[in-house]
Amino acid sequence: MGKLVEIKHPLVKHKISLLRDKKTNTRDFRDLVKELSMLMAYEVTKDLPLKEVEIETPVAMAKTQVISGKSLALVPILRAGLGMVDGMLSLMPSAKVGHIGVYRDPETLKPVKYYYKMPDDIAERDVIVVDPMLATGGSASACITLLKEQNVQNVKFVCLIAAPEGIAELNRCHPDVDIFAGAVDEKLNDHAYIVPGLGDAGDRLFGTK
Ligand code: PRP
Ligand code: URA
Repeated sequence: MGKLVEIKHPLVKHKISLLRDKKTNTRDFRDLVKELSMLMAYEVTKDLPLKEVEIETPVAMAKTQVISGKSLALVPILRAGLGMVDGMLSLMPSAKVGHIGVYRDPETLKPVKYYYKMPDDIAERDVIVVDPMLATGGSASACITLLKEQNVQNVKFVCLIAAPEGIAELNRCHPDVDIFAGAVDEKLNDHAYIVPGLGDAGDRLFGTK
């Protein structure tokens, strides 16, 4: 089973509280998502492998460490995942970025795919899928299935708020995928919105409602 990591860092908890507040405007919401993504990037890269290298400092030769292993790709789930890209990239600037467009049909709640564009070498990369919300888990699971169909071997999923139902669904569909969440909330409501959640992440990020 993939592990569930809830980030307990006080800065993450504080910023998620601000994000939840319905009085937080679009501009601040966007800034907070970016800052949170940076903090989450720090956590999700904690286990990256290192190799030893030798470099010359102005004082002496030094045996020191740099990141080794596979290159990374970041995959935001459109739309709301886009808000997490810049923050993540600021800590992993060499990562390539693939995009998956999926929206949740309001009637069936099933994910509907409308866009898919990956770097050519996606199968050779470790992939971090990002989306602020994991609600029923349908969107995240469908996106990860698409990536696996392209022979991607190693996927991590990063969200800001997760519902227990979404965690269970992602674990069921993709037991190999680790989930990193800024908060794990109580439940879904009758419209499959996360309670207490933050409302519609895409609308709040882009000011569409
Ligand atoms: C939101 C969110 C996730 C999805 C989560 O996107 O950003 O992608 O819902 O719900 P699920 O876990 O039940 O699938 P939405 O469908 O509202 O599209 P948008 O980002 O374009 O607004
Ligand atoms: N999508 C969102 O943006 N918010 C939720 O609470 C559930 C799905």
